[in-house]
Amino acid sequence: MAKLWSGRFSSDPDRLTDELNASIFFDKRMYREDIEGSLAHAEMLARQGIISDADFASISAGLESVLADIERGAFEFKLADEDIHMAVESELTRRIGDAGKRLHTARSRNDQVAADFRLYCKRELAAVRGLELALLGTLCALAAEHTETVMPGYTHLQRAQPATLAHHLMAYANMLRRDVTRLDDCLRRMDFSPLGSGAFAGTTYPIDRAFTAEKLGFAGYTENSADGVSDRDYALELLSCLAILMTHLSRFAEEVILWCSLEFKFITLSDAFSTGSSIMPQKKNPDIAELVRGKTGRVYGSLVALLTTMKALPLAYNKDMQEDKEQVFDALDTVKKVLPAFTAMIETMTVNRGAMRAAASGGFINATDCADWLVSRGLAFRDAYTVVGKLVAKCQSEDRTLETLTLAEYREAHALFDENVYAAIDLGACVTRRNSAGGPAPEEVAKQIASVRRFLEEYE
Ligand code: ARG
Repeated sequence: MAKLWSGRFSSDPDRLTDELNASIFFDKRMYREDIEGSLAHAEMLARQGIISDADFASISAGLESVLADIERGAFEFKLADEDIHMAVESELTRRIGDAGKRLHTARSRNDQVAADFRLYCKRELAAVRGLELALLGTLCALAAEHTETVMPGYTHLQRAQPATLAHHLMAYANMLRRDVTRLDDCLRRMDFSPLGSGAFAGTTYPIDRAFTAEKLGFAGYTENSADGVSDRDYALELLSCLAILMTHLSRFAEEVILWCSLEFKFITLSDAFSTGSSIMPQKKNPDIAELVRGKTGRVYGSLVALLTTMKALPLAYNKDMQEDKEQVFDALDTVKKVLPAFTAMIETMTVNRGAMRAAASGGFINATDCADWLVSRGLAFRDAYTVVGKLVAKCQSEDRTLETLTLAEYREAHALFDENVYAAIDLGACVTRRNSAGGPAPEEVAKQIASVRRFLEEYE
């Protein structure tokens, strides 16, 4: 079959050329955007008197019929069509004849693909955003149940200070909220139509770029036609957003994996979101969390791959840029699969309050509070720190905790100690008193939950 661009060629491309060159088998997923773009372009051409109203009417009916056939699976995508743009255009011409040949007036595949891809990215960005908001809602609901669930907080993965599960969850909620606003920022810069840039140097036809931009739902159009066809920042930014989002999920996933181990036992995953072992009958594995962690590498890979493709490309369009789509598609597919599974896993897990509290009781996480209490009695913090450090060493050598030291033992360490120290190092009290803004005290975490819930209401 002759290519749409076969005019200056004396032979057909070799099959090896077709196989390397064709993007149809992956860019066919942009069929809706491609047809939508063509409809807007054709309408603009008619309004500007560049094609006749009759041509526009038959182009638009033809494109609608191609769209309908693709949607019901009655369209055959062929290697020889090269890409979705040529597949749609040649089929259109086959169906409506000469009017179809006028569709590509004042347009290049370079601005066409750039417009299609931006439209696609915009839509998918909105879908990812929705899935992230759902996870945020789940985190808020779970946090609201656990503002008093004491658990040890860690630094260096060593038990550090008392916190609550709600406080921990709201740390992730803050990351995810930033992910959502990062997507919004990305959208603001993505939201410009490159259509009308032509191959790169615009066109001599009296086109109306504002019309097509508005028709396609863009906030405006790109200001420079060479930039319009050669810019893939929007794809890079979207991949960056997805990569950062996956960083957050992978950190959370890692904790889920730790927490459901026998060593922690902080949570139990639902059977529906775990898997078994083919050999070890006792096993219940956190595969969902592990795959979230694992697939993070894959999304980073897409970002680095596209950055590398774009690096040092001369202006304007180069075929290298066709490599943009598979990376973005794969990253979007991955994130869209990961987010709902992760949300459901969190929603259905059981929290073992007792194990969290036991872990919080065993690791001297109230040592800072003990030192702070001495400070409240007039000692300088650095001195209080040393006194409590010695008490911790004593407890460790005797396999005891700060709670079990007698008053005599406390007073031996420092004369300022009195019986009020026991209330000060009580875990519940330690958490409640950490009421600085942003801290784990239940009333402070309640504010954090309310803030994210307000965000959800405004954004949903
Ligand atoms: N399939 C191409 C891509 O995805 C479309 C643009 C082709 N432009 C060209 N001048 N060959 O980038």
